Amino acid sequence: MMLFSVRLARFWGFLVIGLTLATSRAAENSSDRQQFFPGQIWRDTAGQPINAHGGGILFQDGTYYWYGEAKTGKTFLPDCNKSWGGTRVDVTGVSCYSSTNLYDWKNEGLVLRAETNSTDHDLHTSKVVERPKVVYNRATKEFVMWMHVDSADYSAARCGVAVSDKATGPFRYLGSFRPDAGVWPLNATENDKRPDTTNTLARDFQKGQMARDMTVFVDDDGQAYLFYASEENATMHVSLLTLDYHHTSGKYARMFVGRSMEAPAVFKRRGKYYIVASGCTAWAPNAARMGVADSPLGPWRELANPCVGNDADKTFFCQSAFVLPVQGRKDVFIFVADRWKQWDLPGSRYVWLPFTYTPKAGFTLKWQDTWELPHSVKDVRSAAAN
Ligand code: GAL
Repeated sequence: MMLFSVRLARFWGFLVIGLTLATSRAAENSSDRQQFFPGQIWRDTAGQPINAHGGGILFQDGTYYWYGEAKTGKTFLPDCNKSWGGTRVDVTGVSCYSSTNLYDWKNEGLVLRAETNSTDHDLHTSKVVERPKVVYNRATKEFVMWMHVDSADYSAARCGVAVSDKATGPFRYLGSFRPDAGVWPLNATENDKRPDTTNTLARDFQKGQMARDMTVFVDDDGQAYLFYASEENATMHVSLLTLDYHHTSGKYARMFVGRSMEAPAVFKRRGKYYIVASGCTAWAPNAARMGVADSPLGPWRELANPCVGNDADKTFFCQSAFVLPVQGRKDVFIFVADRWKQWDLPGSRYVWLPFTYTPKAGFTLKWQDTWELPHSVKDVRSAAAN
């Protein structure tokens, strides 16, 4: 009898613990709540934390695809990066998640995998693969991925390109290069061309310009542009891509000269082009930067930090990755950012915030503990038709 009641008590105990765990698990899982929870663990539809850092989002045929750096394993600080705290994890590859409502994300797996054998391959685990962005080329019906590939000490500073005929991959790696070799930017002055060792633009003229943090923006006319931190991160460049989106075209411009901006995210609103970016402080947060232009190739004009309120000077402890225009909703933009954990990179979080536009203030970002889309975009297929 005694034994029976102990067993019964244990049974009820386990049941209660089980139910409690299941409930808190469900509460953490945004699938059950049609809201965003900036900075909290965001689980995929299988209950695993989403692993897509420094990412970008593509909307194609009624589905959103979120591509990002898959960060797994131990975070460590290689000797070559000690001076600036450049911790890393070995490269795993680029992950992809899909969603039709922006809240629930299904893991589509690694769409580009690290190379484990050949140590001189760009995608070798010992290298750097960051900020992957995928765009769709309507003319060639191809998905094209651009990413920052680098040596562990970030001295290579190259663009990597991969292609696929499906959004969910697998992507085929085409190789890497330094953009716009042997060509001066459209807006270079004679002084910019002087052959002086302190002049990075001229130093890299023959071998191509440095390319680190980057993003790709496709305009309504199908022309695509690569924005990348160049010239030892001091100056950003924007390059028109070739029609197949596989290469830079040689038509490019410098922007925000000497302003040291990285983490670029570019979007368009009513004929104007906007860029949001960060300063250069490695994994540590800083004040966001913003700019506007009438054409992707500029000229670009710098605007004020769009963040307002507490911690605006630290971009709410995160760094820009992408700005997503929500399909079928006029003027609904989402600021997609990373909250890096320097000593636990796989544990880094995502911060998605509404990027609100008003004629008076322009684009502003305010912290929200939770928020939701103005009208729940349950099914983007019907939303896109609105
Ligand atoms: C950041 C950059 C990240 C990564 C990191 C390395 O400034 O935006 O993509 O490169 O530095 O410390």
